[in-house]
Amino acid sequence: MSEQTALADLEREIATPGGGMDGLRLVAAPFVPEVRLHLAEDAILWWARMEAAAGRSLPPPYWASVWAGGQALARHLLDHPELAAGRRVLDLASGSGLVAIAAALAGAERVTANDVDPYAVAAVTANARANRVELAVTGGDLLDGPVHADLLLAGDVLYDAGLAARVLPFLQRAADRGVEVLVGDPDRGHLPADRLDRVASYPVPTTEPSVDSPVRRVHVLRPR
Ligand SMILES: C[S@@+](CC[C@H](N)C(=O)[O-])C[C@H]1O[C@@H](n2cnc3c(N)ncnc32)[C@H](O)[C@@H]1O
Repeated sequence: MSEQTALADLEREIATPGGGMDGLRLVAAPFVPEVRLHLAEDAILWWARMEAAAGRSLPPPYWASVWAGGQALARHLLDHPELAAGRRVLDLASGSGLVAIAAALAGAERVTANDVDPYAVAAVTANARANRVELAVTGGDLLDGPVHADLLLAGDVLYDAGLAARVLPFLQRAADRGVEVLVGDPDRGHLPADRLDRVASYPVPTTEPSVDSPVRRVHVLRPR
């Protein structure tokens, strides 16, 4: 799947919105209403319809939902714009682009959004346009390379043990080289509390089926 094909697919979806649960809608992020995103009414149904149409499996559409970690980090950036203003920012594992868009709205000099999923690259492109911000959007896996940014952002990236085992050393290497690193995380079980300092906590609304409360406490952290 090329990024161009994914963008064409997504633009077709956006141009012909349906009223059903398997469609996309342009909506304000609940905890960051300054940002509007093309999100799925029900991401699993959207995924199933797209896979049926493509006749093959597609990556899970993480970009089609808001995530608690990304919402807390985006809120933090908009409430503390000095963190991003005038800086070169990299938003790792950008998903919908919520965090990258918040950094751009906060006045960053340049924001690069990266994600390995071509549909996420397409979604960030479409969402940047909807919010009238300019982002550089890159696909591919950056985790084994250096970081060329002043501020590295990682919203809800520690959701899986294998990924966390690669992301945490990447964040630490960047921090050791003087890059400011901020992580937004609701503690999905892969947060090394002894290696990160808590900067802020937010009560983020959630509809995640695994959480039996309408609000989830989410932390913004930085490596020690
Ligand atoms: C749970 S979503 C979070 C998205 C976004 N940061 C947010 O908070 O809204 C995780 C994202 O990580 C991306 N991802 C997974 N492995 C990655 C990697 N090695 N490099 C970049 N992105 C990756 C997935 O495609 C997905 O979009």
